[in-house]
Amino acid sequence: MSELGNRVAELLPSVRADLEDLIRIQSVWADEARRPEVIRCADTVASLLSGAGFPDVSVVSAGGAPAVIARYPAPAGAPTVLLYAHHDVQPEGDPSQWDSAPFVPTEVDGRLYGRGSSDDKAGIACHLAAMRAFDGKPPVGLTVFVEGEEESGSPTLGALLAEHREALAADVIVIADSGNWSTEIPALTVSLRGLVDCEVEVATLAKGLHSGIWGGVVPDALSALVRLLASLHDDDGNVAVAGLFEPPAPEQALDIPAEQIRAEAGLLEGVGEIGAGPASARLWFKPAITVIGIDTTPVASASNTLIPRARAKISMRVAPGGDAGAHLDALRAHLESHAPWGARVTVTDGELGQPYAIDATGPVYDAIRAATGAAWGVAPVDMGMGGSIPFIAEFAAAFPSATIVVTGPEDPASAAHSVNESQDLAVLAKAATAETLFLAALGDIA
Ligand code: BES
Ligand code: MN
Repeated sequence: MSELGNRVAELLPSVRADLEDLIRIQSVWADEARRPEVIRCADTVASLLSGAGFPDVSVVSAGGAPAVIARYPAPAGAPTVLLYAHHDVQPEGDPSQWDSAPFVPTEVDGRLYGRGSSDDKAGIACHLAAMRAFDGKPPVGLTVFVEGEEESGSPTLGALLAEHREALAADVIVIADSGNWSTEIPALTVSLRGLVDCEVEVATLAKGLHSGIWGGVVPDALSALVRLLASLHDDDGNVAVAGLFEPPAPEQALDIPAEQIRAEAGLLEGVGEIGAGPASARLWFKPAITVIGIDTTPVASASNTLIPRARAKISMRVAPGGDAGAHLDALRAHLESHAPWGARVTVTDGELGQPYAIDATGPVYDAIRAATGAAWGVAPVDMGMGGSIPFIAEFAAAFPSATIVVTGPEDPASAAHSVNESQDLAVLAKAATAETLFLAALGDIA
């Protein structure tokens, strides 16, 4: 291992301790009661970055969650690299389904468990490791940007970008918020899906009615809503909304074996997959629609009443190359035209994040592939990603000449957004080393 690689290895215990401190902060922006924790998290990230040697660190906000911007000016003639991560985390879900407390970092068999351990506090840890490995004097300009509302769809990212455009400008953008093929095989993420969501309300009656007096004659809204939601897929589980973008499936060397999907997803015995084609093509290059919530009468308070109105939230992933706004239009048109029995439908638009496909070629990509290969001892594979990082398309549009590199500390067992999220500590070491070697190489390219 190179001298820099050894340096990262030496630093790892300190970086891990910082990651543990970050996991203890319940930075769930989606939960209003815990927004003070998000503020505390931003302050903690800011002081860690100052401690790592960034001369210029600030916590900024544009009316939304606090983000951190830390800057180290480029040495003469060297490029500037923007290092991205996010410090907000998903809600922990049902704590009783966790094997350890969600906000108490817990190591088991080389993995560190806790909400945000991987997504994406480990991304912050990688950036800290790299700056420390250079003793606060990297060979390139560095700007670290740590967002605080990524898991809420980054609603004020555009405003932050507009306000801090100069400070965020860079030649290369490294996004440490994705994953690897496995704990042994690294990956570069070369495409991500976009994401749109909406709420749909179905109304059939002016008021709730006795289901014996009226049932069988007038429709209840929940049955109408359920039929409407069912129309979103065909019988095989393929998306059935017209007008969605599907790029031709590229020749796919990589696929994900069905047994791996069953095991990692926790698919129950006897339950099959949905949709046609190889799993990687479905995940990376096709749209997907999911019903993520329903408001209706809870079972515990159900009476023999025809429900007059009911509401659902629908989320759709957009294949790379598609336009998120056009997809939301198509979803709305489908919902407005597929309600049974003339039920009234009201659609309220939600968040919108564009997909992104990367041209992963050129000298910067040669450098990241070499650095990743050196750090892991195995060359990285190119992979797509079914998840979304709306930041990418926004920054690509703002800085069209920047090269965007999407890496990250996750692996298929990380269980981001699920219970028992964890970070493999050996992968953290390799990801931090790869980032450090990459920055060193960018210093040499200049
Ligand atoms: N880190 C994820 C995206 C991701 C997921 C990358 C899985 C690699 C593997 C990111 O934090 C995320 O979850 N994004 C949200 C974005 C949304 C709220 C706009 C997503 O994909 O749901
Ligand atoms: Mn993330």
